Amino acid sequence: MPFTVYLEPSGHHFDIEPDETILDAALRHGHAFPYGCRSGGCGACLGQLLEGELDYDTDRPAPPAAKDMPHGTTFFCQARAASDLIIEVKEIVAVESLTLKTLPVLVQKMEQLADDVMRLYLKLPQDEHLRFLAGQYIDILMKDGRRRSFSIANMPLNDHLLELHIRHVEGGDFTGYIFDQLREKDVLRIEGPHGNFFLRENSTRPLLFVAGGTGFAPVKSILEHAFTEGMSQSMRLYWGVRSEADLYLDALPQKWAQEHPDFRYVPVLSEA
Ligand code: FES
Repeated sequence: MPFTVYLEPSGHHFDIEPDETILDAALRHGHAFPYGCRSGGCGACLGQLLEGELDYDTDRPAPPAAKDMPHGTTFFCQARAASDLIIEVKEIVAVESLTLKTLPVLVQKMEQLADDVMRLYLKLPQDEHLRFLAGQYIDILMKDGRRRSFSIANMPLNDHLLELHIRHVEGGDFTGYIFDQLREKDVLRIEGPHGNFFLRENSTRPLLFVAGGTGFAPVKSILEHAFTEGMSQSMRLYWGVRSEADLYLDALPQKWAQEHPDFRYVPVLSEA
């Protein structure tokens, strides 16, 4: 029998099945909970239990950090409901206003940026737009039902042509397909936007980015958007890769650094 989870301060509520986590149930019902790793490691999903009983699956024990936290602090990506619950959570209002879409897209252009990085430009059908927030990602839906997630690398201003940076993973079915079989003018299916990693535009706090490899993609989206919006706080980017050849768009952050006095770019090489 499902229980009900009541949210403070929004007053929203949703049903939860005994075998799903609070986060899974919230997302299933379209509530924009903050989250990151979904495995108890990052703390992005933390909130407060105000009333009710929790259950932690024996396969998914409470994260070690939980025992050191104030009473009631809960990892919503791990905890299940053992009764009706009242919880406190900071829902992400900006994400709630976006519409999740499933769309066919045309591979307009493919550009190999490094030995193992491909840039794809995906064009939406005429009259279609994908409203997203700088930093969010889309899923590419495969014919066999699997999906692969990729960050959108362009800023939201261009919501008709999406840019992705795809790294070739040795032995990876999908990225092998992108490099060996996908061609310009092919059609893919996407779903999005997804994700809570996005620019909080009303904040004036400094922005610090630490990106690894193609983790540069969502940062590119955020920084281009921030520059366009005239955000002027201090911004720093540390882009970590193995060797110089892996800095596949190195000239771009260098150019930003010349044009924006508050932006600093530090490439970081592990095998210089
Ligand atoms: S989402 Fe990372 S700890 Fe829950």
